[in-house]
Amino acid sequence: MTKKKFIVTPWEVRGEVDYDKLIKQFGTKPIDEGLLNRIKKHAGELHPMLRRGIFYSHRSLNWILSEYEKGNTFYLYTGRGPSGDTHLGHLMPWIFTKYLQDKFKVKLIFQLTDDEKFMIKEDMSLDDAVNYGYENALDVIALGFKPDNTEIFLDTEYIKSLYKLAIKVAKRVTFSTAKAVFGFKNSSNIGIIFFTAVQSAPAFLESERQGKQVPCLIPCAIDQDPHFRVTRDVAPHLGYPKPALIHCKFFPSLLGKEKMSASIPGSSIYTTDSPSEARKKIFNAFTGGKATVEEQKKLGGTPEICSVYQYLSYIFEEDDEKLKEQYAQCKRGELLCGEHKQYLADKVERFLIEHQKKREKAKDRIEEFIIRD
Ligand code: TRP
Repeated sequence: MTKKKFIVTPWEVRGEVDYDKLIKQFGTKPIDEGLLNRIKKHAGELHPMLRRGIFYSHRSLNWILSEYEKGNTFYLYTGRGPSGDTHLGHLMPWIFTKYLQDKFKVKLIFQLTDDEKFMIKEDMSLDDAVNYGYENALDVIALGFKPDNTEIFLDTEYIKSLYKLAIKVAKRVTFSTAKAVFGFKNSSNIGIIFFTAVQSAPAFLESERQGKQVPCLIPCAIDQDPHFRVTRDVAPHLGYPKPALIHCKFFPSLLGKEKMSASIPGSSIYTTDSPSEARKKIFNAFTGGKATVEEQKKLGGTPEICSVYQYLSYIFEEDDEKLKEQYAQCKRGELLCGEHKQYLADKVERFLIEHQKKREKAKDRIEEFIIRD
């Protein structure tokens, strides 16, 4: 077997990710059957992203559930680096966060790291990062979060409330640790070196506000884990509980294999794409099909590498039986890529039309969600 190289950091995902290896590399735990049953006991039903192993890794999730059982309820914390428009890959963990919020009836704090994106992206102005922050917030709200248990903030507008926590974290993180965890170089700007402290702060915010130890659960893509490793290391020194994490895999690119990337046109569908644009992207998507229809009918396709199948599995096919059937039909050469693309495009189109309506309505309600100092 050839060993393929891959790299996952909060600012770079390259190569074909081996998710099991990543669990070992990062030192997280796989979500096993026992934990799934425990979640099911409280949630009533398992979200498809749990059933299908898309949310697949965690830290301290058993502890979160034990505290919950004792009546010590957790809050959810997640976020988004507003580097551009929202694509479907960004929505995935937020949809899952909504499920957790609904099932466990808990509060959500949502951080928009306009500061981070300004500092990490050479060509991003601060105004643009702020504007994208507000645009992205509309997508969060459109997913159905409610203002009575959801707070959204931009770092640049809420920094006063975060700063005391951030500097307490920063004092505990040496440059050599930051270099080892994030791969900083001498040429890295000093803002981004400090930034992990700002992303840590919301994990302690409820404890600080309430003056007691409030458990925090962070749903995120696994590339964010390095930040929270740092957060967890410093937590006991500051007298706060270590935040728990539940990690998902990356949403697939429409063009195959690697993570969906904003920098490759056609690889992702944006929430602001017109349904016809989205359709076009799906029809240009990479599939696991054979070169000719004859070959495909004879040999079958390869759903494992097919972005159409992946899209359905990650978000758009909620029915496990239907998904299984499509997998089997594809393998048997009965389901051709054209038909399957059509099936997905219809679902995505319906989703976008609905989402865009809700996104429009969110414009009038955004102030109910945003908190500022
Ligand atoms: N750094 C994240 C990004 O670039 C944004 C973020 C901030 C975040 N806080 C978070 C993501 C907590 C997940 C959980 O997208």
